[in-house]
Amino acid sequence: MDETTRTDTKVLIFDTTAELYSEAATALQQLADEAIAARDRFLLVLSGGETSLPLYQRLANEPVHASFPWQQTHVFWGDERAVSPEDPMSNYGMARTHLLEAVPLPEANVHRIIGEVTAATAAREYSRVLQKMAGGGRAWPRFDVVLLGLGADGHTASLFPGSMHPARSGQATLAVTGSYDQRPTSRVTLTPPVFNSARSIFFLVTGERKAETLANVLEGDSSPVRYPARRIKPPRGTVTWFVDGAAASRLQQYQK
Ligand code: 6PG
Repeated sequence: MDETTRTDTKVLIFDTTAELYSEAATALQQLADEAIAARDRFLLVLSGGETSLPLYQRLANEPVHASFPWQQTHVFWGDERAVSPEDPMSNYGMARTHLLEAVPLPEANVHRIIGEVTAATAAREYSRVLQKMAGGGRAWPRFDVVLLGLGADGHTASLFPGSMHPARSGQATLAVTGSYDQRPTSRVTLTPPVFNSARSIFFLVTGERKAETLANVLEGDSSPVRYPARRIKPPRGTVTWFVDGAAASRLQQYQK
């Protein structure tokens, strides 16, 4: 990749998770305001997992709640487990409970992946949703911000180790299976080209349990088949890693 297309990567290391989430919320709001000023809407992709929950709670409460441009915000998901919204494992259900029910985001702006049908059907259906939102015959919109987590096994969204994910493909979604922390294994995920067309990616990573994996993803040279998070490299976008001290403890090149 040449100078003009190299991914701009920042690693922000925080002493406390409170600071991490506060900074992530501020950065998100700033990008939302900029997107709306430029394009009249803010397209945000949410992640599942426990690490994103405190960010949702922060967005749902003051001071962010009152000043965030909810009316022009559209939410999507990077992945979903094949469960109903009422299931505690539903990524949509988690965001609904901790964020969406608390903020004035129009119902029509919630673009969820349907968990209560087969993953193959949900993937097809979500591809249609993305195509419609993109307009102009494109397969997906260029998202303003994508939130992602990192699994201790190196996965992100539902891109699991050992799977071949096409780096270039017109396919926006995939039905996959992947096992992690005894969570549901039948899932739908957006594909690397969709993530890599985004303007900004935020990875949120906390805890010692992920320290070694984080070092491998950021500083190692292993294949993305082993560490799928290494596939996330938007050539015209920025990646910001919001990391706490415990997760950063094995990093050598990136320091506070
Ligand atoms: C999911 C996710 C997934 C998650 C990681 C980290 O639906 O499971 O989107 O990629 O972000 O597994 O999960 P934790 O934050 O719970 O460690």
